[in-house]
Amino acid sequence: MITFSKYRKILLITAFTVTSIFLLTQCMQNKKEKTAQAPLVRFEAFAGSETCAGCHRKIYETHIHTAHYLTTRPAVQEFIKGSFDKGKNAYAYDSTFVIVMEKRDSGFYQVGYFHGAERIAKRFDIVVGSGSKGQTFITRFGNRLYQLPVSYFTAANSWANSPQFPRHPVVFNRGITSRCLECHSTFVTKFATNRDAQEEFNFNQIIYGVDCEKCHGPAAKHVEFQSQNPTETKAKYIINPKNFSRQQMLDLCALCHGGRLRKTKPSFQFQPGDTLSNFFDIDSSTVLPENIDVHGNQFGLLRASKCFRMSGMTCVSCHNPHENERGKIALFSERCMNCHNGQQAHMCKLTDSIGYAISKNCIDCHMPLQASHSITELLPGKQEPTAAMIRSHYIAIYPNESKNFSSFNNPANSKKTN
Ligand code: HEC
Ligand code: HEC
Ligand code: HEC
Ligand code: HEC
Ligand code: HEC
Ligand code: HEC
Ligand code: HEC
Repeated sequence: MITFSKYRKILLITAFTVTSIFLLTQCMQNKKEKTAQAPLVRFEAFAGSETCAGCHRKIYETHIHTAHYLTTRPAVQEFIKGSFDKGKNAYAYDSTFVIVMEKRDSGFYQVGYFHGAERIAKRFDIVVGSGSKGQTFITRFGNRLYQLPVSYFTAANSWANSPQFPRHPVVFNRGITSRCLECHSTFVTKFATNRDAQEEFNFNQIIYGVDCEKCHGPAAKHVEFQSQNPTETKAKYIINPKNFSRQQMLDLCALCHGGRLRKTKPSFQFQPGDTLSNFFDIDSSTVLPENIDVHGNQFGLLRASKCFRMSGMTCVSCHNPHENERGKIALFSERCMNCHNGQQAHMCKLTDSIGYAISKNCIDCHMPLQASHSITELLPGKQEPTAAMIRSHYIAIYPNESKNFSSFNNPANSKKTN
């Protein structure tokens, strides 16, 4: 979800990308005679995660509940969070124009009514967002994609005006670029278009969600080999990030969790293990944490933290990429204590005063929730957008949050319940 400034950035990024793709194709054409091209990542090289289920069932079954898997899905009922029930299915722009979310024979629609008369109806085709903060919806027209004007905002369990959409006029023609899909899907084939034209996509060649093959590379060859050689217990033709260097592991996650990077190559060509700076302009100077938006830049924030700088930590030190562990604060705190334990010098200074309760929740004091500057939505009846709260990855000492936490978790109270 995107604010005005982000949209402007995205426009700039798009303009920049279009230019760079143009320049790049020129370069590639010049180079073609001289060097063999690296193989491009193509749709045919993917197997799809249903095929992994046959041999990696446990991982498959937990993975389909992750925010990654769910971050883009076809728009069927089970994936749309907002309500289509009468009374809960409308968003009024003013007293004259209302958008109603309707289930019809051919799918789910956003239907615009002006003074009660239907003026426009556009179908939900793709859901973007697992819904932990919210969801926005894409409709297709021919081979193009457009964002629908009404989104869903989870904190309010309510339909809302899409981020940075004007209230007047209500627009149904805001294009969706491949940039959204590069972070929110595994792969999509693009049709060649004029460089000034809106992008066109092949809808038979979309791999929804951040799926297995985003982190393990296209795996059709692995599936073919292991199926034909069922007694072979060693894997072939597949990438296991376990063997990555720290930088490779960080680059894999920073591909989408590194904030607004400027693309220099089509990022669908990035493969796990590749170096991110070959695909993006990366500013590696240290950025002050207060200048980084908490939205989408966990890498930038983490990198500024003392924890990160003074250990070999990666994202996987705390996150299991195959499971939905959202909300399991005690489990995350255990992972802090893999490093911050009694044996090592750097234990929390409040341990003595707070006691056992401290071990259940390091997170709310040291990684507090902060308002996103870019995931904001205008709720019905509100004049100002409401911001989603995001977990800061700048791990540090936050005196105010610690005070709030301490007063809620008064050690005297926790003793009583023990
Ligand atoms: C026909 C069975 C089969 C299918 C289908 C299959 N795999 Fe595998 N895979 C294996 C075997 C066998 C191994 C080696 C033993 C192990 O590590 O479990 C393996 C290992 C792996 C590894 C670890 C590699 C390593 O070097 O340690 C990854 C990652 C992997 N598979 C991913 C996938 C993905 C992603 C899919 C779906 C696109 C998939 N596999 C589909 C059989 C299969
Ligand atoms: C192709 C882009 C992409 C890559 C690569 C990627 N992520 Fe994500 N990740 C996302 C998106 C998009 C979301 C938001 C999903 C949503 O809620 O709709 C997300 C969400 C998450 C979440 C929040 C989960 C939750 O329950 O809310 C975690 C944790 C996470 N990613 C960790 C990682 C780690 C660790 C890696 C590297 C091993 C990684 N991601 C690689 C795109 C990516
Ligand atoms: C650089 C990668 C990146 C790009 C580009 C990007 N997103 Fe995201 N998006 C994320 C990540 C990561 C999250 C998870 C929340 C966070 O970390 O702030 C997210 C969160 C979201 C969410 C909320 C998901 C949820 O479950 O709460 C929506 C909706 C969304 N993005 C839509 C879009 C749209 C539409 C575009 C294109 C205009 C876009 N994003 C472009 C990475 C990206
Ligand atoms: C967000 C990135 C991401 C996604 C999506 C993902 N994996 Fe993984 N996978 C990893 C990482 C990182 C590791 C190495 C973890 C470690 O260091 O132990 C891994 C390890 C593995 C292994 C090897 C296990 C081992 O103990 O060595 C297998 C098999 C595997 N993944 C299969 C899958 C399958 C099947 C899916 C989809 C159902 C999937 N992965 C989705 C990132 C991912
Ligand atoms: C991979 C090991 C590792 C993990 C995991 C880890 N840390 Fe750290 N952390 C460190 C190291 C090393 C330091 C620097 C210690 C020093 O200064 O002696 C540090 C420093 C800190 C500091 C002091 C920061 C400052 O600016 O003074 C805090 C607070 C902290 N960690 C909290 C956490 C919390 C909370 C978690 C879990 C969410 C966590 N750490 C997970 C290794 C780790
Ligand atoms: C020291 C532990 C630690 C490390 C390292 C870490 N995270 Fe997290 N992350 C957390 C905790 C704790 C949460 C909050 C989980 C919750 O509320 O359920 C979180 C939440 C997230 C979320 C969801 C944010 C939100 O507010 O919805 C994303 C996305 C994410 N992490 C991505 C990453 C990425 C990418 C990296 C590596 C650059 C990373 N994390 C490294 C501990 C860590
Ligand atoms: C009630 C809030 C709160 C909780 C819960 C909490 N901390 Fe702290 N922590 C603080 C504050 C405040 C400081 C700074 C204290 C000082 O400097 O006197 C601190 C300091 C630290 C330090 C720096 C110590 C040093 O030597 O400079 C580390 C490391 C740390 N905490 C880790 C953790 C870990 C790990 C957990 C979970 C097991 C945790 N904290 C739980 C509030 C908290």
